[in-house]
Amino acid sequence: MHLKNRILVTGGCGFLGSHICDELVNQGHEVLCVDNCFTGTKRHVRHLLEHPNFEFMRHDVTFPLYIEADQIYNMACPASPIHYQYDPVQTTKTSVHGAINMLGLAKRTRATILQASTSEVYGDPEIHPQVESYWGRVNPIGPRACYDEGKRCAETLFFDYHRQHHLKIKVARIFNTYGPRMHPNDGRVVSNFIVQALKNQPITIYGDGSQTRSFCYVDDLVEGLILLMNSKEEVTGPINLGNPTEFTILELAQRIIDITGSRTQIVNKPLPQDDPKQRKPDINLAQKELNWTPHMSLAEGLKKTIAYFERLISE
Ligand SMILES: NC(=O)c1ccc[n+]([C@@H]2O[C@H](COP(=O)([O-])OP(=O)(O)OC[C@H]3O[C@@H](n4cnc5c(N)ncnc54)[C@H](O)[C@@H]3O)[C@@H](O)[C@H]2O)c1
Repeated sequence: MHLKNRILVTGGCGFLGSHICDELVNQGHEVLCVDNCFTGTKRHVRHLLEHPNFEFMRHDVTFPLYIEADQIYNMACPASPIHYQYDPVQTTKTSVHGAINMLGLAKRTRATILQASTSEVYGDPEIHPQVESYWGRVNPIGPRACYDEGKRCAETLFFDYHRQHHLKIKVARIFNTYGPRMHPNDGRVVSNFIVQALKNQPITIYGDGSQTRSFCYVDDLVEGLILLMNSKEEVTGPINLGNPTEFTILELAQRIIDITGSRTQIVNKPLPQDDPKQRKPDINLAQKELNWTPHMSLAEGLKKTIAYFERLISE
């Protein structure tokens, strides 16, 4: 694991990608961060730009890329509904053409390739918590389909390249993750509530707030992704990575109000179409195969995230 590798991180200027770059550079690897800066920003990797083991390249993964790599973390894709619905055709292209291009690169270089898949492949699930063997319930023509179906097709491509070309693949199904460098205005629940609370604006809850979510702190998630990448070859996934502790959206809002000491008020709005009512990972497989369990409590993780947004807003 600690041998020096040449590692490509697509979407490396994004929220998760930039934390992966940080950790890999820390471990002494050579990291190439590739991003078209659609939702990510070079500011997230600014502190790495002068590092001798780090390189940034502006590139859109829907076009082929010819570089050398031992490992590829394929993180490129807008991840929040506001961003992925902005240009749904481009979102599907990023997932599908991006996967084809990165798998082609892995095939040529014999690199191990990890796909950032998502709990959204389960759609609005009928079983709870979600296990990897569950095939999901996704609306193929709804407004979220560009993302959900794009990610499902990417998983298909990963497994077909694995069966047909014997590629070393790793598919992570990532559940709600939060932490510093989340986008402040992308409508994701944690960042939304924190920004609203810090600005003393009303906190918007869609529905009555009884829908549940589980929240994984970014450091825990990055640890899980790196363990998966370096796991035994037969561990391909799909493997759930997330924090199984559940909270209602109302509880989350209340905790954020308590930590920030905000004078905000909660307002309720109608639920958006196809919004899942419950989402919680079953992480038995990750515990067994990777010996991985998230450790950060919601209270501690929120404190760190709130501190980041306080700095961002004051800048
Ligand atoms: N954050 C989560 O909770 C979560 C949950 C499930 C899955 N994921 C997946 O993890 C990955 C990273 O998510 P994130 O939260 O860091 O999102 P993000 O939007 O912060 O990061 C995505 C990055 O990909 C880049 N990108 C988008 N389209 C691209 C393209 N065509 N070519 C090159 N770069 C492109 C963006 O500019 C951005 O830097 C995504 O694939 C997402 O689907 C994230």
